[in-house]
Amino acid sequence: MAIQKSGKIWLDGEIINWEEAKVHVLTNALHYGSGVFEGIRCYKTDKGPTIFRLEDHIDRFYYSAGCLSIEIPFSKNDIKKSITTLIKINKINECYIRPIAFCGYGKLGLDVSGSKVNTAIILWPWGAYLGGIELSAVVSSYRRLSPKSVPIDAKISGYYANSIIATMEAKKRGADEAILLDDNGYVAEGAGENIFIVENGKLYTPPKGAILPGITRDSVMRIAKREGIKVIEKDISVSKLKNAEEVFFTGTAVEICPVVKIDGQKIGKGKVGPISLRIKEKYIRITRGRDKKYKKWLTYV
Ligand SMILES: Cc1ncc(COP(=O)(O)O)c(C=O)c1O
Repeated sequence: MAIQKSGKIWLDGEIINWEEAKVHVLTNALHYGSGVFEGIRCYKTDKGPTIFRLEDHIDRFYYSAGCLSIEIPFSKNDIKKSITTLIKINKINECYIRPIAFCGYGKLGLDVSGSKVNTAIILWPWGAYLGGIELSAVVSSYRRLSPKSVPIDAKISGYYANSIIATMEAKKRGADEAILLDDNGYVAEGAGENIFIVENGKLYTPPKGAILPGITRDSVMRIAKREGIKVIEKDISVSKLKNAEEVFFTGTAVEICPVVKIDGQKIGKGKVGPISLRIKEKYIRITRGRDKKYKKWLTYV
């Protein structure tokens, strides 16, 4: 992903120029991954820019910080307000928002108590992640980090070494994305997305426990239920995955993205299926402020 190199960034309570947002090479997080972050999207609507499920993302941001035993030196309200201010200052209608809090410069080592915590908010226009239409995937030879090793429901920077390694393996195998299995060999999630399969008109998704329980995953489950589509959280084997009628990823970056090939094998007819399409279209309507029933998920800037 090429990132724009202009605009304003919020760093530790101040709004500064893009090129001034720098850190020291001895920043603790650079060495050990001691940071937490969020990925949030802001969409253009008829009533101006709106942030999707801001409250939930900010709650997860603070939850992740707690899992890492670091304290974000701003209140949730400060961060929410700073996000909307930054969108206004950058005069941007649609963007990806990246809040991050990380152990900074001053104390190296693994005991992060008393470490300086830096907090930043960066935003930039970002189109469909992974290209967005129909994806190919491979089942990774690497397992998802075990929930026995880390609190897997937190979004902690260091965990993403696992995702990078799986992604690079998938790219070498000619696929767009990796699907990682959990400790027990069941499907966990994509490198940066949750996963759903369709079977007999019902949705199945791996249960919480060995995944990052995504906010998009939660949205899809709620949308599907309201649409009268049954959703079942259940362990999914690799053969169930590959023989599913439809498979799709969910995530803030990728939104709803059909997977049409896994390990070179076609899923269903090898193109986007009707249920994936229905959910995707509904999600687009909701996030762009065109469905009043879901307006509680939107924060207008
Ligand atoms: C590993 C992983 N799983 C799932 C997701 C999807 O989460 P969300 O829908 O909250 O963006 C993400 C993205 O944050 C992720 O990095």
